[in-house]
Amino acid sequence: MIKSLLKKTKRQNKSREEERLLKRLDPARLPVHVAIIMDGNGRWAQARGLPRALGHRTGVETLRNIVKLCLELRIKILTVFAFSTENWKRPQEEIKILMDLLCEYIQKELNDLHRKHIQIRAIGHIFELPPRAQKELARAQEVTSQNNELILNIALNYGGRLEIVDAARNLALRVKNGELDPAEINEFIFKKYLYTADLPDPDLLIRPAGELRISNFLLWQMAYTEFWSTPVFWPDFRPAHFLQALISFQHRKRRFGGL
Ligand code: IPE
Ligand code: IPE
Ligand code: MG
Repeated sequence: MIKSLLKKTKRQNKSREEERLLKRLDPARLPVHVAIIMDGNGRWAQARGLPRALGHRTGVETLRNIVKLCLELRIKILTVFAFSTENWKRPQEEIKILMDLLCEYIQKELNDLHRKHIQIRAIGHIFELPPRAQKELARAQEVTSQNNELILNIALNYGGRLEIVDAARNLALRVKNGELDPAEINEFIFKKYLYTADLPDPDLLIRPAGELRISNFLLWQMAYTEFWSTPVFWPDFRPAHFLQALISFQHRKRRFGGL
């Protein structure tokens, strides 16, 4: 698989660095689920004297390239953090730019994503997003619902604590209705009430822009996720960085508490 990928990459004019990294990758030990905190758009722009909006726009380009690479590598699930429940604290103008970019991304990319058999999902309080964003997301999810090459899971108005609270509330409702015995509740049952009920936990979390914190992302799911961080800002994040993260992941010894 890596050989055919290399041939393909030559055609696609991949950098020498990417080719070198691809050769070091063990195709048998790729993660199933990769999560990314797409961070550093603002600092990338500020460092260049550009408006933050341009950082966000360039960040969308990065996402496009990383989705493409995930498809090539046959990674099955990519969950990206695009807007947190705390990001509402930002100026109205920036929030509007982010929501507009989301709509633009779906409008521009949906056909191509669908053609590549990518399934789009959104997790978070989607019903609190601007109506236009809700409409685009609903359309994208409906059109791509049967696709199974890659799940592109976009976290929007997402908070890990909110997700756990939502799950607890829904469990409490079932208990109240006499449908569930509290004594039956365990981790397995709890997981079924999360937004990611049918997905395996992320194997690898990538955080660009140098921050070494989780920022309320997938709190439950990341109990045993391997972390990889780079100082590179998301708009400068290249497929080569993604490959570096995968190689690092492949050298980890995951013990899950065992020996
Ligand atoms: C990530 O980039 C995008 C969102 C959080 C929506 P930032 O906007 O957080 O960029 P920095 O962290 O300020 O550089
Ligand atoms: C996390 O980045 C959220 C997203 C990337 C969408 P933030 O920029 O909001 O995180 P903090 O504030 O640095 O922790
Ligand atoms: Mg940030």
